[in-house]
Amino acid sequence: MKYKAYKERLVKIADLGYTTAVLGWDQETYMPEKGAGFRAQQISTLSGIIHEQFTDKELGKILKKLNDSPKKLTEKEKRNVAQTLKDYKRQKKYTREFVELLSKTTSECFQAWQKARKENNFSLYAPHLTKMIALKRKEAELLGYKKHPYDALLDQYEPGARVEDLDILFKDVRSQLVAFVKKVAAAKQNDDKFMYLHYPKDKQWDFGIDLLKQMHFDFEAGRQDYSAHPFTTNFSAKDVRVTTRVSEDNFKSMIWSCIHEGGHGLYEQGLPESEYGLPSGEAVSLGIHESQSRLWENMVGRSLNYWKANIKLAQKYFPENLKNVSAEQFWKASNIVTPSFIRTEADELTYHFHILIRYEIEKALMDGSLQVKDLPAYWNAKYKEYLGVKVPNDAEGVLQDIHWSHGSIGYFPTYSLGSFYAAQFFATAKKEVKSLEKNIENGNLLPLLKWFREKIHKHGKYYSAEELCKKVTGEKLNFTYFMDYAKEKYSTIYNIK
Ligand code: CO
Repeated sequence: MKYKAYKERLVKIADLGYTTAVLGWDQETYMPEKGAGFRAQQISTLSGIIHEQFTDKELGKILKKLNDSPKKLTEKEKRNVAQTLKDYKRQKKYTREFVELLSKTTSECFQAWQKARKENNFSLYAPHLTKMIALKRKEAELLGYKKHPYDALLDQYEPGARVEDLDILFKDVRSQLVAFVKKVAAAKQNDDKFMYLHYPKDKQWDFGIDLLKQMHFDFEAGRQDYSAHPFTTNFSAKDVRVTTRVSEDNFKSMIWSCIHEGGHGLYEQGLPESEYGLPSGEAVSLGIHESQSRLWENMVGRSLNYWKANIKLAQKYFPENLKNVSAEQFWKASNIVTPSFIRTEADELTYHFHILIRYEIEKALMDGSLQVKDLPAYWNAKYKEYLGVKVPNDAEGVLQDIHWSHGSIGYFPTYSLGSFYAAQFFATAKKEVKSLEKNIENGNLLPLLKWFREKIHKHGKYYSAEELCKKVTGEKLNFTYFMDYAKEKYSTIYNIK
């Protein structure tokens, strides 16, 4: 009976949460500009109600009772209760004063960041960021941690992630990937000029829809719309929204953002609908979510087999631009590696140096070994060291990302974790899915999707990221898989011995 009461409460909270998500989706897609003020108020009101309901004493009592006498519960129910209790205890640690101060600091910090970036003036941002970091250190104390204050923040985005493990992972990135990228950067570059011809918006849109259909994104349980920054959100497993952007003089921008968000969307559509509102109906973590998007984007969507399947379709839409382009040329053009100073434009290899730099900085800010005032110089030195590039100014350097101004510290590592998980999952899929590569070459992506449905999607949050990785691949996260994938692929593309 108690479990039923628990479930009923969580379903109601989920109803409120997904309703808030509809408002958020609309805000990013169709809402008229002048609606922003009241929309922010509406979302904030609903968020407040959700917080109240989730931290309600009665729910706390139910959770404790269920957790203390779990005999009548199934294994799945036990895990749901334990997960919700963990979230409940965490929410309870935030005092009202702290939440209000964080919200005020965030809005000031965000405004200062916008102005500082526009005027290329870090000093406008520095005092606000200093406040934000102090608050985040306080948050880590509030939440508690065993070894490193950064662990407390990482756990919010990637439950179970710790500095001691990430240090090992990023040490491998430094020692193996830096040297390999230097070789690639020194090799002869491939031609991708045809990607920057004129590609009309409507045709690109239709081509993107075809690619999503080929991935078996279910358009009866989802849709695609335009937004300035592509994202995926969902209101249940039966209503998943992806967005894309189209640039008429850059064909690459739409294709891989479409496939990327499609990968996120497939994960959401594969979550069990019977578990609506419960942890067993949710994604594992941001890192596992990103493993799905990046696997479809990079291991599938930037592979030669994929373009063998799709070059004719691309030529049908854009005959003038692509009539003389072979699958192999298209594939090479989609995998250009060039060190640069902007994260969001980085290729799939140098991307991880951008994350590595942010990881080192966040860790140092959190343990106090780096001060905000020293940040620009530190940033520029790291870009020189890992990417060999000179950052032209702070606007295109330390001020490029929105994350810190929002108080999102501990988020960046999930991007790299996603790629590394993706490489490891794909290596296993190649062994377990019969004729996987041949199927991709024939445009048949269903066997791969079915494998993901079975191995990952249907379990929701039943397993932690670490458990899931072991269960699916037989071992914990291991950077070697990504390195092997990178070496095999880019040695061929760049003719490296
Ligand atoms: Co993503």
